[in-house]
Amino acid sequence: MQRIYLDNAATTALDPLVLEAMMPYLTEKFGNPSSIYSYGRESRLAIENARKTVAKLLGAHPAEIFFTSGGTESSNTAIHAAILDLGCTHIISSPIEHHATLHTVEYFQQQHGIPVSLIRVLPDGHVDLSQLRDLLAAHNGKSLVTLMHANNEIGNLTDIHQVGEICKEFNAIFHSDTVQTVGHYPFDLRNTPVHFITGAGHKFHGPKGVGILYINENVQIKPFIHGGSQERNMRAGTENLYGIVGFAKALELAMTNYEKDSANIGELKAYMAQQLLKEIPETSLNGDCFGQSLYTVLNVAFPKTEKSEMLLFNLDINGICASGGSACTSGADLGSHVIRAFNNDPNKVAVRFSFSKHNTTVEIDQVIAKLKGMF
Ligand SMILES: Cc1ncc(COP(=O)(O)O)c(C=O)c1O
Repeated sequence: MQRIYLDNAATTALDPLVLEAMMPYLTEKFGNPSSIYSYGRESRLAIENARKTVAKLLGAHPAEIFFTSGGTESSNTAIHAAILDLGCTHIISSPIEHHATLHTVEYFQQQHGIPVSLIRVLPDGHVDLSQLRDLLAAHNGKSLVTLMHANNEIGNLTDIHQVGEICKEFNAIFHSDTVQTVGHYPFDLRNTPVHFITGAGHKFHGPKGVGILYINENVQIKPFIHGGSQERNMRAGTENLYGIVGFAKALELAMTNYEKDSANIGELKAYMAQQLLKEIPETSLNGDCFGQSLYTVLNVAFPKTEKSEMLLFNLDINGICASGGSACTSGADLGSHVIRAFNNDPNKVAVRFSFSKHNTTVEIDQVIAKLKGMF
């Protein structure tokens, strides 16, 4: 059976050009980057070139880019550093963050007694930024603000410039989980008021298990992982050499083709949204689909019927891959913490469809046809 993959916010297929760039480092160029002889120097050079590429593409300085194992580690590192090294005594976040953020915030609340304020979420799934200034003003000490750029379940985009400017007024530290936007959105970090951002290679046709943490040059933190002197003493452990090379290549391809790919993918998303609203009665969209929203993610609220309660399962047996929430919760029928934060309609079933450059209108038509038979 021909499968249709519409879960690109969970992960994407590796680009063959990325694999090609990685191959030498999976085979003959295997040296440990810390070794001083030629094998090692070759690997070190590959990592530093990758760092330069990534920094240039994001408008950052190479010294501000740290390679990690992915979005989860990067967010953990940033939040730990804000509390333990930068003196933050209060965390402001939102109930719709990814668990990489929410569970880390909960850890600091429970284990370190750090007070946490969660920003209100409006019915369109946007965080209510008008509350941010009040929350910052209400706390005497330094705050960490951790708010994601694009929500991985509904696609809503938060204006990180606006958040960063408000943070500046209160001398707060600002971390943004940008895992869904790095590789899908143009960044100019030199002109973005943020202290930490994160990225994961597998979200934009790069390899899994490799990511970045951007740490603004004005911020000094201590290592999160202790050991050797890799990543300028910030992140010990032999580097994921081929992963890092793949990350840089994937980001390069993503940003080179950004205009074309984002326009095509955005059209697919709009087409699918319109077709669903037209073809399946009582269907609506979760989030700000046609407004401030990332072009890759579409979250649909289907009417709950006996058949549609098993919707993800029925899609799966028809070869259609979509999810009910983030990858960690797909398949589980617990409902999504993101959807629950702003839309508690028990008569709806939420399904996330997320797109990549590989999807086509023909696929969308096939999915709509199958869905019509499920209601
Ligand atoms: C918004 C967001 N943050 C963080 C993560 C975690 O990234 P990773 O799985 O690379 O650790 C993901 C991926 O699922 C995500 O979508």
